[in-house]
Amino acid sequence: MNNRELSALDRLLAGVDDALRTVAAPAGRPARDNPAGLIKEAALSDSQKSHAAGLMRVNHAGEVAAQALYKGHATVARDTSIEEQMQEAAAEEHDHLAWCEQRIQELGEEPSRLSPFWYAGAYAIGTVSGILGDKWSLGFIAETERQVIEHLESHLDGLPPEDARSRAIVEQMRDEEAEHGQNAIDAGAAELPKPVKRLMRITARIMTRTAYWV
Ligand SMILES: [Fe+2]
Ligand SMILES: [Fe+2]
Repeated sequence: MNNRELSALDRLLAGVDDALRTVAAPAGRPARDNPAGLIKEAALSDSQKSHAAGLMRVNHAGEVAAQALYKGHATVARDTSIEEQMQEAAAEEHDHLAWCEQRIQELGEEPSRLSPFWYAGAYAIGTVSGILGDKWSLGFIAETERQVIEHLESHLDGLPPEDARSRAIVEQMRDEEAEHGQNAIDAGAAELPKPVKRLMRITARIMTRTAYWV
């Protein structure tokens, strides 16, 4: 086996390892402190709690997909600086994943049972758009982050106003998604065709509506 094959096999095994860690194991300790920090837990009613948990489950599912998307892109990125940028973004997304998981558990619920499905779908999309070329994969990331920010903004409107712990997490995620999107644009993202953007919105709607419940 030559070096090239070994490195392809290494990448494949690392990819399988990442996938299993993301969907089948707790996210573990985030690299950075949870933005909810020492913010006091609000006295939420049962229905407020389950609504907040539903929204945070949607965000968690989005972060599972973000892991897969960035890892998928990184696997096939042609430019090593772009690969590094993707891995860096994936590390920040991992903190988001862990913060959402912590918050869902604080609210007494569990992440989406369909996580393997979100991961597999996003990984396939990430890899395919990466194969089309870095400018398209960057364009895909820029558009994804733009749509994610819209979702997070709508969650800030929808979360109970007194749920400051969830809000602190969502606000920090929103700010960092904006940075990820800008980084992708700065690195040469192409503007995606309108029908692709529309398809992405439809896919995101299916995911967010399903993950709220399961
Ligand atoms: Fe994120
Ligand atoms: Fe992001």
